[in-house]
Amino acid sequence: MRRAVCPGSFDPVTNGHVDVITRAATLYDELVVAVLVNPGKAGLFPVEERMELLREAVADLPNVTVDSFQGLLVDYCRAQDIPVIVKGLRAVSDFEYELQMAQMNRELAAIETLFVPTAPQVGHLSSSLVKQIATFGGDVSKLVPKAVHDRLAEHARRSSR
Ligand code: PNS
Repeated sequence: MRRAVCPGSFDPVTNGHVDVITRAATLYDELVVAVLVNPGKAGLFPVEERMELLREAVADLPNVTVDSFQGLLVDYCRAQDIPVIVKGLRAVSDFEYELQMAQMNRELAAIETLFVPTAPQVGHLSSSLVKQIATFGGDVSKLVPKAVHDRLAEHARRSSR
C-alpha cells in the first residue's frame, strides 16, 4: 500500500491546500494530512479546529485522513511507517526552503519528498494572507472552503466588538 503524508500548519486550510491534497490523493492509496502542533506558536485556530476544518474540506476524498504531529516530521513518518512527504510548490520562492527541508529529511531518515506544483489559480494563496484579509473585513469566500470562510467571519466579528 502506497502511503504519503502532507504536512503543514493549515492555520487555516485554504483552497491551495485542498488543490494539492486532492491531486496528491490520486497518486497514493492513503494520504495523511498532518497538522503540526507547535507549542511555540499559537496561531489563529487551535489545532483541533484546524483538523476539524480539514476533515470537512477533504470529506469527499475517501483515501485522505487527518492527523496531527509534534516534533520532527521524520519521526512522525517513521512511527507511522510513511515513506513519502508531499509538499505543494506555489512559486520559485517556495522552492529554496522546501528543497532544503526535503534534502534534510532525506538525510535524517531516507524519507523522500514529492513536490506538487499548485494550480495557477491558487498559486497566490497563503493562510497568512487569507487571515490578514479576513481580519480587515475583506472577502475570502473564493480563497477558502465555506466552513473556513464562516469561521474567519466569526473571528472578525468577535474581534471588532
Ligand atoms: O504549512 P507550513 O508551516 O509551511 O508547514 C511547515 C512544516 C510543518 C511542514 C515544517 O515546519 C515541519 O516539517 N515541521 C516539523 C519540524 C521538523 O521536522 N523540522 C525539520 C525540517 S527539515
